[in-house]
Amino acid sequence: MVAATSTAEGWSSRSAFILAAIGAAVGLGNLWRFPTLAGESGGGAFVIFYIGCVVLLGLPLLLAEIFIGRAGQTDAVGSIKVVARESRVSERWWLFGGLGAMAAFLIVSFYSVVAGWVLYYVGVFAADFGSALMAGDPFRGALAGESQEQIAGRMGDLFANPTLLLAMHFAFMGVTLFIVARGISGGIEKAATWLMPAFFVLLISITIYGAIVGDVGEAAAFLFTPDWSKLTPEVMNSALGQALFSLSLGVAGIITYGSYIREGTKLGSTAVAIAFADTGVALLAGLMIFPIVFAVGLDPAAGPTLVFQTLPFAFESMPAGSLIGLLFFVLILVAAVTSSISLLEVPTAWGVGQMGWSRTTSALVFGGSAFVIGIFCLLGYNVLSDVRPLGFWSIFAETDILDTVDGFTGKVMLPLGALAASLFVGWKADRRLLETTTGLSGGAFAVWRFLLAWLCPLAVSIILVTGLFPSVLG
Ligand code: TRP
Repeated sequence: MVAATSTAEGWSSRSAFILAAIGAAVGLGNLWRFPTLAGESGGGAFVIFYIGCVVLLGLPLLLAEIFIGRAGQTDAVGSIKVVARESRVSERWWLFGGLGAMAAFLIVSFYSVVAGWVLYYVGVFAADFGSALMAGDPFRGALAGESQEQIAGRMGDLFANPTLLLAMHFAFMGVTLFIVARGISGGIEKAATWLMPAFFVLLISITIYGAIVGDVGEAAAFLFTPDWSKLTPEVMNSALGQALFSLSLGVAGIITYGSYIREGTKLGSTAVAIAFADTGVALLAGLMIFPIVFAVGLDPAAGPTLVFQTLPFAFESMPAGSLIGLLFFVLILVAAVTSSISLLEVPTAWGVGQMGWSRTTSALVFGGSAFVIGIFCLLGYNVLSDVRPLGFWSIFAETDILDTVDGFTGKVMLPLGALAASLFVGWKADRRLLETTTGLSGGAFAVWRFLLAWLCPLAVSIILVTGLFPSVLG
């Protein structure tokens, strides 16, 4: 097997890898799901528990996945085989790489649909800002003169319109596919090095804006004052799952990106930088969104529609709401692109490394079929709204197509992948290989291995069991 050397591609520098990995990690999970969950779960206790999950579970797993990729230097399946061989354990561990690639493939299919909604709102706000400009009032509020029902109604209209949903999904998947087909240094790295700085400028600008016009004190109190009675087992479960999803763990994404790292990169500090940036962005997203929501006296616990219905309405009465609304949705879109390319890259790398396909073929095969699955997801809101793909299974009995793909990958495949990765690196990987690849030694190494071998499997097993059998939580 020469797969290890057949991937001549790689990041051009350590900072390129860090930017791309932050781009993978920072996505809809940070800007849409994290504020949604924090809002629904009552804020502080969720947020603090979430940070604990990132440090104690996310970080060790992140380093474990980077390690596998760096040591293997090829797609996830091939990399796991390399590590297994060098550690003299069964190569059958590759199965969790295959499972991960399949999960990443399924995730990108609905991720693109949700990103399509964001794209639609970019269009809505671009048109609105355009008309504000024409009216000579560029700093007016958004969607002037519309009632709250009208603004919220846009989402229903969008969902009832399969053609529009399809067009958005098509555009987003097309861009994702195009970037992935262009390869690592010419596609993914270039996208990340352009888009991530733009992302941070936008994020910080909108957060400052929110602090000026909104109620930052109330938002900070909401996000950071824990009411521990709200930390129910369900909330802990969702915090843990969210930490894995947000760091792009469990589905071989970081293994794949890690495989393009060149020799000599310090892996430990790299993992810390990625986890820190990802969590920082989630918190900033909260500090950006909630001051605006509170300023207008809206409900932080709106759920998944928080970003699509609550916030646009808040922008109506904000100074420059039209412009800021546009920038806000552009921000989410940018984050979504750098994540979706990382998701599509996982199966694409598998096709290149294991099947011997060209990169373009592989990206077309997987991007194309994910596009088709996404079509079913979006039809689930209109023509196929009665379909319950896993309706025979009690936890998915009421779940539409998109939420079923989301739920199955998030509740089953992702925790299984994370569990296998922690067991594999925590118990099976050769110690010398671990030390030389990660550059860790002494106390730091011991703590890492302990968390990976004991805490991660335990915690992830708990998410898996309570996710599949919610009744055990009573
Ligand atoms: N982490 C991304 C987000 O927060 C989603 C994502 C990108 C992802 N790549 C991944 C999730 C790989 C799991 C695995 O939106």
